[in-house]
Amino acid sequence: MRILGRGRIKTVLVTGGAGYIGSHICVELLDAGLEVLVIDNLSNSSQEALNRVEKITGKTVLFYQINLQDKARVKTVFETHTIDAVIHLAGLKSVGDSCRLPLEYYQNNISSTLVLLEMLEQFSVRNIVFSSSATVYGDPATVPVTEQFPLRATNPYGRTKLMIEEILRDVANASHIKVVLLRYFNPIGAHESGLIGEAPNGTPNNLLPYISQVAMGQRDKVLIFGGDYPTIDGTGVRDYIHVVDLAKGHTKALQEIVGNGSKGESCQVYNLGTGHGHSVIEVIKAFEQACGHKIIYEIVDRRSGDVAECYANPALANEKLNWRAEKELSEMVMDAWHWQTQNPKGYKID
Ligand code: UD1
Repeated sequence: MRILGRGRIKTVLVTGGAGYIGSHICVELLDAGLEVLVIDNLSNSSQEALNRVEKITGKTVLFYQINLQDKARVKTVFETHTIDAVIHLAGLKSVGDSCRLPLEYYQNNISSTLVLLEMLEQFSVRNIVFSSSATVYGDPATVPVTEQFPLRATNPYGRTKLMIEEILRDVANASHIKVVLLRYFNPIGAHESGLIGEAPNGTPNNLLPYISQVAMGQRDKVLIFGGDYPTIDGTGVRDYIHVVDLAKGHTKALQEIVGNGSKGESCQVYNLGTGHGHSVIEVIKAFEQACGHKIIYEIVDRRSGDVAECYANPALANEKLNWRAEKELSEMVMDAWHWQTQNPKGYKID
């Protein structure tokens, strides 16, 4: 792989690497021949995910269970290893919780990023890829959404993403640190091995884990939030992207910032989506095909803060990163179902 061949990047730190998206990123990095360090406080993730990453790749992940706000302990990681790039995912991510506990969200997500950036400066780490979200577009006026669309978050969680984007832009302008902001659309699915996947604590907030649990008989029915949107069938439309495709976008982003040397822009922004929208009912129908039986649903009131339609224009990432989402919805739900049946309780063993 180019980033390795050139010898520019050897070791990557993944914050939040034990989580759903982070664990899939670790697999891609290890498969690319990179050394991977993970800092994760396991507040919404499991170390078992990293054991599984090692099983999939046959390689080792160096894991530190540290709260990213704990500067002294984070510093020891930077002192112990020569880190060439950071992929920053660690953060709280529930929209509902963020409305109830805004201070906790600002404190956790912002201050941990500040600690991390201070370490980057102190230890001359020049590359950072940030896990941002399509949530920064708020309610987009039209679809598909390009990176130039106006930014407007509608809840504290989304605002932390926006604020961190702005902090990173300032740091990129003022230093030699190169930044890539990746705006994820709706990652779903799981690794094809069925060994790693999404394992939410408690009642899932997002659609796919909820459908999976209904399909398993763990919950009675899917509640569809709104059937009167101006969409193909009245239900919300989103750009669902296979988590493995999303993870591959990160290795491409690293290749881009490192490969471009000083010629590249100091802060680049990319949408990571497929460019296609699917309604809630389309996703449920696709899942029925994968699991082989009916999934009961009921249409209820809209969820506050939801938008009718949101899907990406991923042309910039296609062109500049030479990256493209390849997997179809049928493969996403098949892999989600495979993971769910292999791991009915997520990573819990009892
Ligand atoms: C949600 C967050 C977004 C966050 C993203 C992370 C909200 C309002 N938005 O996006 O900020 O970045 O997750 O993954 O929470 N749906 C149902 N029933 C359910 C769950 C969802 O009908 O039980 C519908 C929603 O109305 C939406 C679609 O399914 O139309 C997708 O919902 P979800 O998976 O929660 O993702 P987003 O709302 O797009």
